[in-house]
Amino acid sequence: MTIEIAPSLLSCDLSRIGEEIRAVEAGGADLIHVDVMDGRFVPNLTWGPPVVAAMKRTATTPLDCHLMIVEPEKYVEAFAKAGAANITVHAEASPHLHRTLQQIRSAGCTAGVALNPHTPPEMVEWVLDSLDLVLVMTVNPGFGGQSFIESCLPKIERIASAVQRRKLRVRVEVDGGITAETASRVTAAGATVLVAGTAVFGKKSYADAIAALRSGGEAGRRSRDTPREP
Ligand code: DX5
Ligand code: ZN
Repeated sequence: MTIEIAPSLLSCDLSRIGEEIRAVEAGGADLIHVDVMDGRFVPNLTWGPPVVAAMKRTATTPLDCHLMIVEPEKYVEAFAKAGAANITVHAEASPHLHRTLQQIRSAGCTAGVALNPHTPPEMVEWVLDSLDLVLVMTVNPGFGGQSFIESCLPKIERIASAVQRRKLRVRVEVDGGITAETASRVTAAGATVLVAGTAVFGKKSYADAIAALRSGGEAGRRSRDTPREP
């Protein structure tokens, strides 16, 4: 299975957002991760649909919109219209998660569910066949540049194994504190989509940074696919 790298624009130079998108795409990004924050679900604010529409005018890779907002169902159509390819909502913010996932798919996007570090994997168990992606947060959402939370690793494993066992086409994505080193551990646990802000935009060469994340991720993936000695 291929590893996909999704640079998070939260850490880019926002005064040159279009150039930054082009630079990471030239450097090998597979997706562009767009963090939407409302100052209520998370203690930070970013941007809304008009800014995402502006990103879409530049981006040639799919926009992966991570909604860290309360009542995400109110904004699904607006983000779909702005050009989101994938819309991920937080399980903790969505009392009618199944309905919201249907709404996202009817709007023409793939549907994701994000889980905060303390949220159990069971929160997605009964919607696993109604979604396209599970985003396991490996930091508390709201800010870039935080440290990876180790205790999330078994949760990635649990979700990836359930997806495999049920033969579903669900991608497992991780977000927060991803570096070339943590990349190998999350892919060994079963993740295939890696979000990275600081580990891409904090480096001089975006192409080198993306290549390092990809090779860390692929090394972890190989160790997962190689049967262990009894
Ligand atoms: C955090 C966001 C992340 C953030 C990751 O709430 O969801 O996408 O940009 O930043 P790093 O990779 O620096 O931890
Ligand atoms: Zn994110």
